[in-house]
Amino acid sequence: MYDFKTEEGLAAPELYRELHNAADALTTDESDAVANMANVAALMWEFIPQLNWAGFYRMGATARGESELVLGPFMGRPACIRIPIGQGVCGIAARDMETQLVEDVHAFPGHIACDAETRSELVVPVVKGGQVIAVIDLDSPDPARFGPEDATGIEALAELLADRI
Ligand code: SME
Repeated sequence: MYDFKTEEGLAAPELYRELHNAADALTTDESDAVANMANVAALMWEFIPQLNWAGFYRMGATARGESELVLGPFMGRPACIRIPIGQGVCGIAARDMETQLVEDVHAFPGHIACDAETRSELVVPVVKGGQVIAVIDLDSPDPARFGPEDATGIEALAELLADRI
């Protein structure tokens, strides 16, 4: 049995340290990418308060062979399956290889609304060998839910997972 539940009211740096340790412990001896993304989606959902979606989009391809993001393991409501590179918050994070911290999704040009409840969003690319292999996406129903400490925490998680997904 895994019992990684965290205490309520932890400060962000401590919360992300605990999340990182739990993700490390769960993925270190497992080579299956889907299993590792599924468990880390569950951990993010368990550890990070005020979320309505937490999960992965993996780099995939269209029928014509162009790169695009494809829905991976997640927690939350069913979501958009394919996102073209450069579109939406996820597609821009993948194209620019840069974290996107969006305080108000309604003010973000091109935001793709998978759930009308979502108000703010954090997307972090997972980079391996100079290429984006996936993005981690967190959504919240609260405006400006995410700040630099969340970005730093999820970036460290993305780095940990680069060789494990
Ligand atoms: N809002 C994202 C799409 C993914 S869902 O939020 C799960 C975007 O604009 O890329």
